[in-house]
Amino acid sequence: MKLIERVRDMQAWADDVRAGGERIGFVPTMGYLHEGHLSLVRLAKGSSDRTVVSIFVNPIQFGPQEDYNRYPRDLDRDIGLLRDLGVDVTFAPSVGEMYPEGFCTYVDVEGLTEGLCGAYRPGHFRGVTTVVTKLFLAVKPHLAVFGRKDAQQAFVIRRMVRDLNMDVEVVVGPTVREVDGLAMSSRNTYLSPEERKQATVLYRALLRAKELMEGGERDTKVIVGEMEGIVREAPSARVEYIEIVDTEKLKPVPFVDGEVLVALAVWIGNTRLIDNMIVDARGDELNFQI
Ligand code: PAJ
Repeated sequence: MKLIERVRDMQAWADDVRAGGERIGFVPTMGYLHEGHLSLVRLAKGSSDRTVVSIFVNPIQFGPQEDYNRYPRDLDRDIGLLRDLGVDVTFAPSVGEMYPEGFCTYVDVEGLTEGLCGAYRPGHFRGVTTVVTKLFLAVKPHLAVFGRKDAQQAFVIRRMVRDLNMDVEVVVGPTVREVDGLAMSSRNTYLSPEERKQATVLYRALLRAKELMEGGERDTKVIVGEMEGIVREAPSARVEYIEIVDTEKLKPVPFVDGEVLVALAVWIGNTRLIDNMIVDARGDELNFQI
C-alpha cells in the first residue's frame, strides 16, 4: 500500500489508474478507524479496481469550541488496518497541504444543511462539502462511499454531487453498531466506562420509535416524546435534538405518512453522539436511496 501526502502526487496516481481503464473507489475519513469505516472500505473494494482511503482531520468542519484538537488520531494503526484490507492508497495530506496560505474558496449546500446538526454546528457542513470537493479533485474517484451513520452528511453530499455535476457515484453503507447497539464512532473513545453504558439510550430511543410506528403510531410529537423519555433514563444525557424529518428536504413532519429520517443528537457528559434510522410509515427500516 502506498502512503500519499501531496495532492499533486495523488492526482498523478489517479490519472495513471484512469488511463489504464481502472475504476477508483474512495472512502473519505478522519481516521482513528473502526469497523464502521472498514465496512465502507469493503464496499468500495467490492465495486472498484483500486481503493483509496483518505485520513484527514478537517479543521474547517469543527467549530471554535469543538473537539478538533483532542480528536483522536493514530495514523500508524490506521495504515496497518488499511494495509491488511488490501487498500491501494492511504491519502493523508497535512493541513497546510489542503489549506495553504490564502485559501478562501468554499462549497456551500443550502437548505439541507439548515436543520438537524446544521442548526447546532454552524459552518460544519460547509467545511464537509468543501473538503469532500477537494478530496474528490485530488483522488478523482469513480465511486465514493459514505456511512448512513452521518445521514444528513450523506444527504448533503448526494445533493452537492448532483447540483455540481460531479462525475462520482455516491454509495451509502449501513451503520455498523457495537453489540449493545451503540453506533461505532471515533468519538466513543471519549466516553468513560459509566458513560459508555449510558450511551445505549440513543439506539434504544430509535428502536422505541420504530416499535411505535410498527404499532400504528403516526404522531411525531408522541414518538419524539417517548424517545425523550428513554434518553432521560441516562443521568449523564442531555438531548440536543430529536427530530423526525422527511427524506427530501429534511424538514420536521407532524405525521409519519411515508419515508422518514428519525435522527437524534445527545450529549453524554462532554461527548456529543448522533444516531438515526430511515424508516417507512410501518416502522420498517429502509436503506439509503441514492
Ligand atoms: P468520519 O467521522 O471519520 O467518518 C468517515 C465515514 O465513515 C463517513 O462516511 C461516516 O458516515 C462513516 N461512518 C462513521 N461511523 C460509521 C458507522 N458506525 N457505520 C458506518 N459508517 C460509519 O464523516 C467524516 O469522517 C468527515 O465528515 C468526512 C466525510 C471524512 C469529511 O471530513
